[in-house]
Amino acid sequence: MIRIDKLLANMGYGSRKEVKPLFKKGKVFVNDQIVKDPSIKVDPEKEKVQVDGQEVEYKPYIYVMMNKPKGVICATHDKLHRTVIDLLDEDLQSIYAPFPVGRLDKDTEGLLLLTNDGDFSHALMSPRKHVTKQYWAKIRGRVNEEDQKAFREGVKLDDGYMTKPGELVIVDSNETSEILLTISEGKFHQVKRMFLARDKEVTELKRLKVGALELDSNLKLGDYRELTEQEKQLLVGKR
Ligand code: URA
Repeated sequence: MIRIDKLLANMGYGSRKEVKPLFKKGKVFVNDQIVKDPSIKVDPEKEKVQVDGQEVEYKPYIYVMMNKPKGVICATHDKLHRTVIDLLDEDLQSIYAPFPVGRLDKDTEGLLLLTNDGDFSHALMSPRKHVTKQYWAKIRGRVNEEDQKAFREGVKLDDGYMTKPGELVIVDSNETSEILLTISEGKFHQVKRMFLARDKEVTELKRLKVGALELDSNLKLGDYRELTEQEKQLLVGKR
């Protein structure tokens, strides 16, 4: 059950403040009964909600882009740690039950997608789809052309796995270096382990891009917003 003003706000009728006049003007109906109180609760899956004679179409899926901060883990529940789900509005959590698409480490920041659409998640996560991810990182040590060449050819991780080619751009090479790395797979701790394979340590890591979708630079750490239809299509095409 959700407050009806919140439901209308979630379905794109404006902010909660903006939808208030719709109630005053007698434009909102639930099961053909006029509703003047914006605080009543409805079950959007079972009850018919209308605004201005138009049925409010309840959308079953949600697609969210978050700028994940450090210190929260990519899980839906955890007894010990705060999760990325805890950062979402409670109604959004209870209506949609979203989950993170893949994982970023606890100390990694940046672009994280959340959804309750399993097909969407699978389309992005399946190793066969080769969706690229771009990371920015700070590295202890001088990153050089040899690292670039090694990543281009694939490096052997600590468990013997040979990575697919990665494209390494050196932004700054010094005692601490800054790099951009684009990879097309997502093994556990992949970026950190790729650098370890070169005897270098990642000290900061942020994901900037998934496929063609860039992190919205207006999102502060911990903030999130829904994807636009175009952004969704950018990721998985028209479905
Ligand atoms: N690679 C890592 O090592 N950590 C992440 O969080 C993402 C990619």
